[in-house]
Amino acid sequence: MSRLEARDVTLGYGGRTVVEDLSLAVPDGRVTVIIGPNACGKSTLLRALARLLAPSAGAVTLDGKAIARQPTREVARVLGLLPQTPIAPEGIAVADLVARGRSPHQGAFRQWSVADEAAVEAALAATGTADLAGLRVEELSGGQRQRVWIAMALAQDTPLLLLDEPTTFLDLRHQIEVLSLVRRLNRDLGRTVVMVLHDIGLACRYADHLVAMREGQILAMGAPGEVVTSDTIRRVFDLEARVIPDPETGTPLVIPLREG
Ligand SMILES: Nc1ncnc2c1ncn2[C@@H]1O[C@H](COP(=O)(O)OP(=O)(O)O)[C@@H](O)[C@H]1O
Ligand SMILES: [Mg+2]
Repeated sequence: MSRLEARDVTLGYGGRTVVEDLSLAVPDGRVTVIIGPNACGKSTLLRALARLLAPSAGAVTLDGKAIARQPTREVARVLGLLPQTPIAPEGIAVADLVARGRSPHQGAFRQWSVADEAAVEAALAATGTADLAGLRVEELSGGQRQRVWIAMALAQDTPLLLLDEPTTFLDLRHQIEVLSLVRRLNRDLGRTVVMVLHDIGLACRYADHLVAMREGQILAMGAPGEVVTSDTIRRVFDLEARVIPDPETGTPLVIPLREG
């Protein structure tokens, strides 16, 4: 089952087509990871899934209805997006930024509540950013900032979570921490996750469903062990590589061949 689907979508900017006639059903309750070379349209696809970019053909559907015709606030209660390069309002404190994740749950008659406070505290704790709550976002390192953005997306508390390169700027330990957190959200709370990752080995470790894109199209998708072969790596990345089992997890690990 798929609450979120792209059906034959064509996506682009100002007349330039980036993604053509692409269909993707996001499996409910699973972690889907999108891989592919730079500029192949991964972020464009994620934006369309999050209703930030309207398809010029086809449709994105949420619960079977075109997402474009559903009210922003209703969509935001179901689906959260962490963009690849989010921009914080100048001078904003960490706690206030994370609290903004609660805005879809607020309204004219629905003020800040105990549940909002609890969601913010849980998000800060889960991302290890509680100590940073009083700082301004611009005072943070790249890695701290990235974890604060993840906290904001978590505070939104949506059943569907789209994360565009959530491990950017993070050292390996923090990458693993973030990906383990995503895993727990999925396993313990049943969250459906779609994320873009660059590290194929980590993608294979954490994905149930792997989607490999090139030039706006999906070239392969399925279980990481089926998708990631030297043939797929060649077709997707123009890279000659061996694929071996990760000695720790048994999932595919890509070893580029030595040149020359
Ligand atoms: N806001 C934009 N306006 C115009 N072109 C864009 C915009 N965002 C992305 N593009 C172009 O669309 C293509 C795909 O970009 P993107 O989806 O960001 O790729 P990826 O996330 O796979 O690296 C690129 O050629 C990029 O230059
Ligand atoms: Mg991108």
